[in-house]
Amino acid sequence: EKGGYDYFMLKEIAEQPKAVADTLLGRIDPSGSLTLDEVRISPSELREIDKVVIVACGTAFHAGLIAKYAIEHWTRIPCEVELASEFRYRDPILDGRSLVIAISQSGETMDTLMALRHAREQGSKVLAICNTNGSTIPRESDAVLYTHAGPEVAVASTKAFLTQLVACYLVALYLGQVRGTKWGDEIQAVIRDLSRISEEVERVLETMEPVRALARTLATKNTVLFLGRHVGYPVALEGALKLKELAYMHAEGFAAGELKHGPIALIEEDVPVVVVVPSPRGRSVLHDKIVSNIQEIRARGARTIVIAEEGDEAVVPYADHLIRVPVTPTLLQPLVATVPLQVFACELATARGNEVDQPRNLAKSVTVE
Ligand code: F6R
Repeated sequence: EKGGYDYFMLKEIAEQPKAVADTLLGRIDPSGSLTLDEVRISPSELREIDKVVIVACGTAFHAGLIAKYAIEHWTRIPCEVELASEFRYRDPILDGRSLVIAISQSGETMDTLMALRHAREQGSKVLAICNTNGSTIPRESDAVLYTHAGPEVAVASTKAFLTQLVACYLVALYLGQVRGTKWGDEIQAVIRDLSRISEEVERVLETMEPVRALARTLATKNTVLFLGRHVGYPVALEGALKLKELAYMHAEGFAAGELKHGPIALIEEDVPVVVVVPSPRGRSVLHDKIVSNIQEIRARGARTIVIAEEGDEAVVPYADHLIRVPVTPTLLQPLVATVPLQVFACELATARGNEVDQPRNLAKSVTVE
């Protein structure tokens, strides 16, 4: 059942290229536009939407944070992302023109379910992004876009996360397509890039041995910090969450721009800091800023573990360890940049003798509040 892997998590990490490809399957037509028939909210209704609100928990919440960048950029619709457990207790402002997107692997997470019920009571349309056919969340939603990751057994979410991202990009691009934005050409180009992204994920997986070796050398550390900005920020949060749940280590993700506002005080000799570097193309200002962050933390003795695009030479002098990811459009980078962080956490958990598939105190599906 584990297909020759020691753990379901390793198997599920390896299945990601297929999971990503399966989630795209049949949704991009040969002309390069999107057909999302499952989104049974009519194009005219979608054109009326004036706000998108994403609710989710844990890893699915991180997918939502990334989706916000894509939705706001490609559609110009304001998008909020909120932890489902906070959402309904603060009297959120919703109405018939709000589209609520509930993201859940299991489709049974109680907090997410209660958030979507609350949204429907306010008259909002709810679109579920879910991996489990016929589960409660899609049943109670107006429409569902299924992720096709296949069953995810390991408690720590990996392939479901990548497919949640794909589904979020599809929704963002589809909204852009339906509503028409000035990014029409970019949307076309991104759809093409998305249809090739599974091969890029495969390439990342082929280069993970040095990441495993590095993880083993860090097994006795107490803390690991993660920095990112733009879509790399939620990737940093996800890297930290994986490490907490699997390695039982203190791990924290920060927005790199926040360093000076506090977290830099945590930097001391030999603390491992993983930095997710945005592409030097596109939003190059962000790239340059993060390179100076890496310089700053390294000058204070941090051990820098840098995830950067192939061909990005600017980071080389400041990286104690360099992990390369393929060139992708900025907004799609999380699909490749998250993979090394999953491998890193899994290997650290193994090196520390932890139970990878069943981390202590955690359940796969959290059906209580
Ligand atoms: C992390 C993890 C959890 C889940 C969260 C939401 O690896 O697995 O944080 O992502 O409990 O679960 P779903 O997606 O089933 O609603």
